[in-house]
Amino acid sequence: MSDYILELRNITKTFPGVKALDNVQFHLQRGEVHALMGENGAGKSTFIKIITGVLQPNSGEMFLDGKKVDFASPNDAQAAGIAAIYQHVTCYPDLSVTENIFMGHEKVGAFGRLQWSGMHEEAEGLLRRLDATFSPKALMSSLSVAQQQIVEIAKAFSQNARIIIMDEPTAALTKRESEDLYRVTEQLRDEGVSIIFISHRFEDMYRVASRVTVFRDSQYIGSWNVKDIEPKDMIIAMVGREITQLFPEKKHEIGKEIFRVENLGKAGYFADIDFTLHAGEVLGFTGLVGAGRSELFQSIFGIMPYDRGRIFVEEREVAMRSPGESMRAGVAYLPEDRQKQGLVLSWSIGRNISLPSLSSNFSRGWIREKEEMRRSHSLSERLTVKALSVHDPVSSLSGGNQQKVVVAKLLNANAKILILDEPTKGVDIGAKSAMYGIIDDLAKNGYGIILISSEMPEVLGMCDRVIVMKGGRITAEFDRGNASQESILEAAMANRRIG
Ligand SMILES: Nc1ncnc2c1ncn2[C@@H]1O[C@H](COP(=O)(O)OP(=O)(O)OP(=O)(O)O)[C@@H](O)[C@H]1O
Ligand SMILES: [Mg+2]
Repeated sequence: MSDYILELRNITKTFPGVKALDNVQFHLQRGEVHALMGENGAGKSTFIKIITGVLQPNSGEMFLDGKKVDFASPNDAQAAGIAAIYQHVTCYPDLSVTENIFMGHEKVGAFGRLQWSGMHEEAEGLLRRLDATFSPKALMSSLSVAQQQIVEIAKAFSQNARIIIMDEPTAALTKRESEDLYRVTEQLRDEGVSIIFISHRFEDMYRVASRVTVFRDSQYIGSWNVKDIEPKDMIIAMVGREITQLFPEKKHEIGKEIFRVENLGKAGYFADIDFTLHAGEVLGFTGLVGAGRSELFQSIFGIMPYDRGRIFVEEREVAMRSPGESMRAGVAYLPEDRQKQGLVLSWSIGRNISLPSLSSNFSRGWIREKEEMRRSHSLSERLTVKALSVHDPVSSLSGGNQQKVVVAKLLNANAKILILDEPTKGVDIGAKSAMYGIIDDLAKNGYGIILISSEMPEVLGMCDRVIVMKGGRITAEFDRGNASQESILEAAMANRRIG
């Protein structure tokens, strides 16, 4: 028997004009959690799709238990015991948990009748094994992303998967939910399942994986024992250079007040919210899970009405009854849920980026397409979007590069106040540092930026001022000078206002 449950040799995959994988290799041991890391567009998702039979390589070989296999379709891979939980959850929202688990391999009784009670029962057992508390009869759409992932894992279980691949499973999860996922991952590992875990978060890798393989620019760079590799060397492997300074140095002046919120409240969500934002300022909002930050800013942006309080843009009161109204007032918003955030996948990168500014150019009578494309091009260059040209469709981009396009689109809007909800989630470390540079530049140019973030280094490294929320209320406010990880955490857990 081979030492490896899965081995890939010299895999190459090309798309028209792009080599997504160039002669890569990979070794997976039985019962290990193996992290696969690399920048946005490095080829990770493509590689996974080859293992799961969704894509076929142009050349290269795959061995399962030492025997050569060729998967012509996902069914072949499934039959061989390989299951994947994809980067973008691919469930059927209008069906029940049980239906989702057994989709494609339903239990059928005599006369071809579906055996619902048997399936519900089995689903219940699978969910219990994963410590899930929701019902197998619940609608998929009623679950959180974390719960939907548990359903996907249950589905893998129900197919007796021996290899489970998770493509950025923690990108949309809170810290607490990530902890739960690590636990389930370890449980699977202890039951003998081999796991490939893709992530951009070093903490995921150090927490849950024992081996790591790095791809860069479609190529295999190397594999290491996780305990033997330091973050600094991981960055060099992933990015090809050292990133010595992730955060820009802050040297610019903070200007006049451009945004003010007074006594804002919404029953059941948040209360007594008062803050100001100045030109040139990066104002952080942080807190633990469920602190109410996303809800607060959804209200401020007019997505969900607030029921008391006032909002002022440059001393002028605005009602913010809809996103359109907020945008007209000069406020732009990057929501946490990037996938619902209106990228038109079949459109080109350039057309997506220029969407928010099109109407202003229309008013001059015609779209100045060349200029739009030039702007789009420079924005996507700065954000390091990996594509051949801005004329490529967004659908051809890797997950992280699609997110960069969403950010570019936002930066192209005519707004002076930017609300960014977790802007660096799912983007690689090189792009992260580029994004920090852009935020800093915008601030220098008089923009006011609200940065909602759960990542402590990001909050401490980027913000001029930090507001901490808990249970829908502000519990503390710190200036750059006196904010520390400890003081912020203390405020995030506090029962009353401090600081
Ligand atoms: N269907 C496609 N058509 C054309 N190019 C594609 C297609 N799918 C992927 N690519 C290209 O292949 C390369 C690898 O993409 P892939 O999705 O594998 O990256 P990734 O490592 O998963 O990145 P991320 O971290 O952003 O998810 C990218 O340059 C991408 O643009
Ligand atoms: Mg990917």
